[in-house]
Amino acid sequence: MASKTAAICRGISRRSSGFGVRSMSSWWRNVEPAPKDPILGVTEAFLADPSPNKVNVGVGAYRDDNGKPVVLECVREAERRIIGNQNMEYLPMGGSVKMVEETLKLAYGENSDLIKEKRIAAVQALSGTGACRLFADFQKRFRPDSQIYIPVPTWANHHNIWRDAQVPQRTFHYYHPVSKGLDFASLMDDIKNAPNGSFFLLHACAHNPTGVDPTEEQWREISYQFKVKDHFAFFDMAYQGFASGDPERDAKSIRIFLEDGHLIGCAQSYAKNMGLYGQRVGCLSVLCEDEKQAVAVKSQLQQIARPMYSNPPSHGALIISTILSDPDLKNLWLKEVKVMADRIIGMRTALQENLERLGSSLSWEHITNQIGMFCYSGLTPEQVDRLTNEFHIYLTRNGRISMAGVTTGNVGYLANAIHEVTKSA
Ligand SMILES: Cc1ncc(COP(=O)(O)O)c(C=O)c1O
Repeated sequence: MASKTAAICRGISRRSSGFGVRSMSSWWRNVEPAPKDPILGVTEAFLADPSPNKVNVGVGAYRDDNGKPVVLECVREAERRIIGNQNMEYLPMGGSVKMVEETLKLAYGENSDLIKEKRIAAVQALSGTGACRLFADFQKRFRPDSQIYIPVPTWANHHNIWRDAQVPQRTFHYYHPVSKGLDFASLMDDIKNAPNGSFFLLHACAHNPTGVDPTEEQWREISYQFKVKDHFAFFDMAYQGFASGDPERDAKSIRIFLEDGHLIGCAQSYAKNMGLYGQRVGCLSVLCEDEKQAVAVKSQLQQIARPMYSNPPSHGALIISTILSDPDLKNLWLKEVKVMADRIIGMRTALQENLERLGSSLSWEHITNQIGMFCYSGLTPEQVDRLTNEFHIYLTRNGRISMAGVTTGNVGYLANAIHEVTKSA
């Protein structure tokens, strides 16, 4: 018996040292390299450039005036309090209850009746991306015939997220290339012309990549038209606090929809406004008709999360609940958000003034009219290529400049380079 088993084993090993090796490598022969991510690819190229003058205004991550990444003081203090007291247990599938509670207050209001009435189904998510993806999967599962209307342009990953969730995509007008502002008339037409009960993706504030937001009055009109058409608004709020410096003010669009009685969905991220990029902490919420529905929806969101990642990471959530549940730390956070937003606003003014001082014949008013982390400069892909090849300035080819990467030290150099490549335009 033993010698028979040994003979079989010898047979297997003889075969795998022959054509077995070839058959192993054939598993993935049809896999082609994926196209580079348009945003993360810029950072790779920047890192590979040895030039001492290089500037990265590609990635949407805040830098201080020395171009260095920032850890907020409120986060440092929360970590000091947490250290040694944190266990490494799993969080529940829906994440940290305390963090989710505090996060809902930011979007729905500190004293929101909707929170008190427990009408919001909410789970901790893997930052804003994870929140959007969870919602897209939920939409596909419970509204399998629906589509999603996405603004033109939008953060490129929105397309990937709803594509991978297999939700068909439609687009709606948003940006007006000539005015470099909002194409409000076409936007309203698209809302009116969409079939009743359509799903729309809206950026709550600091639209990425354009930096163009509707005014309060325009939001009211949008909300009214959504009511008429019975559309569903899904708010992606990745920059709360980065538009005006005040998280409460930046939630205005959502509050208008709530006042009008919409049942919304919302993705929140702490990547930018708490500088917790790598901690991957955010929240997905879905406002329901009553508590019973909210319990059901939450249980389904958890069920979607379970086979994907089981439960979310705990450290970032603990940092956030520590900050937001302590009035002093929360105040410190609010001050620090304002400092970040104000520095960006200052750099907008500096870039525009530098371009005007250089005698540029073009209008650069949109730099200060747009808000949030990005300036949608209007530079063509060819002009962007020249900025990169001749001046070592890195940005996405759609002309989006991350104002968070602009500093007192590089703003003059950046303005000069932009002036050079746009001179003959
Ligand atoms: C509009 C928008 N939504 C969502 C995100 C998601 O970011 P994160 O997953 O890092 O929270 C981003 C990040 O750039 C964004 O710009």
